[in-house]
Amino acid sequence: MAKRTIVAMPGDGIGVVVLEQCIRLLNAAGFDAAYVHGDIGWEYWCKEGNPLPDRTIELLEKHKIGLFGAITSKPKDKASAELIPELQNKGLVYYSPIVTMRQRFKMDICMRPCKTLKGNPLNFIRRTADGGYEEPMVDAMIFRQNTEGLYGGIEWSNAPDEVWNAMMTHKKFVANFSMHPRNEVFISTRILSKKYTERILRAAFDYAKEKGFQGITVCEKPNVIRETSGMMLKLAQDIAKKDYPGLSVWDTNIDAQMMWLTKNPENYNVIVASNMFGDILSDGFAGLVGGLGFASSAQFGENGVAVFEPTHGSAPKYASYETSIVNPIAMFLSACLMLDYIGEKTLAQRIEKAIADVVLQGKVRTYDMMKITGSPDAIKKGAASTIQMTDAIIQKLK
Ligand code: NAI
Ligand code: MG
Repeated sequence: MAKRTIVAMPGDGIGVVVLEQCIRLLNAAGFDAAYVHGDIGWEYWCKEGNPLPDRTIELLEKHKIGLFGAITSKPKDKASAELIPELQNKGLVYYSPIVTMRQRFKMDICMRPCKTLKGNPLNFIRRTADGGYEEPMVDAMIFRQNTEGLYGGIEWSNAPDEVWNAMMTHKKFVANFSMHPRNEVFISTRILSKKYTERILRAAFDYAKEKGFQGITVCEKPNVIRETSGMMLKLAQDIAKKDYPGLSVWDTNIDAQMMWLTKNPENYNVIVASNMFGDILSDGFAGLVGGLGFASSAQFGENGVAVFEPTHGSAPKYASYETSIVNPIAMFLSACLMLDYIGEKTLAQRIEKAIADVVLQGKVRTYDMMKITGSPDAIKKGAASTIQMTDAIIQKLK
C-alpha cells in the first residue's frame, strides 16, 4: 500500500493537464503515494449547484493533503445562467470554491515562493551604471495571511442602522462621510485578529530560521493603517525579542516595496503581509521570475489540511488545444512545496534541481519562455508542449 493518499483536484481548463503531468513527475521521482480524485470546479457548479461538493470536502478531511490545478470562475449572473434547467431559479449563488476551501479548513497561512531560475529568459534584468545589465537573483518567500483583512468579506453598501450608527461614533466618519446619502457610502472592512497575525508571523520566523535567513520583513503600512498594520509590526518585534532572538525584523511600506521591487528585489528573502498586500506583493515578485508559468503556492492551517496549487487560473483559451502548450512548472513547484510540507525534503530538492537544470540548459522551453504568442502554432515555432516539458524534467531526475 502507498505511504500516503493525496487528493488530486484538477478542476477546470489547464488545471487538468498540469495536474496530470505533475502526478506523472511525482511517480517518476519515486514519491510513494496514491491519488484520489476530488471533484471541484465549474462542471459541478453547473450540474450540482455546488463547485465544491461535500464529497470533496470529506476527502480532504480524511487525507489532509490536496494538489489542486485551477478552476474557472464567472460573475454571479453568468454563473446562474449556466446552471442546468432543474437548478435554475432555486436561489443558488456561486461562490469561489477556493475561498470556500480556505474558510472551511481555516487555511490561514499562504506561502508563495518567488525564486529566480538561472537561464529563464523571462527573468527580470536591470540596467547597471556602465550601461550594461545585470540579473538579480531573487529568492523571496511571501507569507500572506490568507483568511482575514481586506478579503475577509465583511462589507456593506447601504449599511444597516447598527453599522451606520457604529460608524457615526468615529469622528473621522462624521467629518468625512456622514454628509453623503447612506446608499452612496460603501464599506469594506480590514479586520485582523492577534491570533492569526501571530500565526503568520511565526510561520515566517520559523521558515527564516530553518533556511538560515537573517530575519523577516513585515510589508504593511503602519504609519497610515495604524491599528492593523501597526499591530502586526509591533507583534513581530515582540515575538522576535521573545522567541527568535537571532532574527531581525525589518519593515517596509507596501507602496515603497513595489518601487524597490525593480531596484533591489534580491535584498528580500522572507516577507510577511496581510491578505491583500500579500496578494499584490506575490504577483509583483512573481513577475520578476517568470510570471504565471512559474508561480506556485501552498496554503495550510491549524487543522492539518493543506492544499498546494499554481497561482494561475484555468486559462480556458488553451484548454481545448489538442497538444497542450502551457507551462507545467508552476504546478510542479507547488508539488515541491507539498513535499517540503510533508517532510519529503530530499525529494522536493531533487525535483527542484531537475526543473532548474532544464531551465538552465534552455533547450526545452514552453511558449511563454520563448516569449511568443500562445497559439496552436507555438509547437511549430519550436515551443515545447506541456508533455515535452514534463519529459525533459523527468529525464533530469535520473
Ligand atoms: P489565467 O491565469 O487562467 O490566465 C491568464 C493568462 O496567463 C493566460 O491566457 C495565459 O496566457 C497565461 N497563463 C496562465 N497559466 C499559464 C501557464 N501555466 N503557462 C503558460 N501561460 C499561462 O487567468 P484568467 O485568464 O484571468 O482567468 C481564467 C479563468 O481562471 C477565470 O475563470 C478565472 O476566474 C480563473 N482563475 C482561477 C484561479 C485559480 O484557480 N486559482 C486563479 C486565477 C484565475
Ligand atoms: Mg492573485
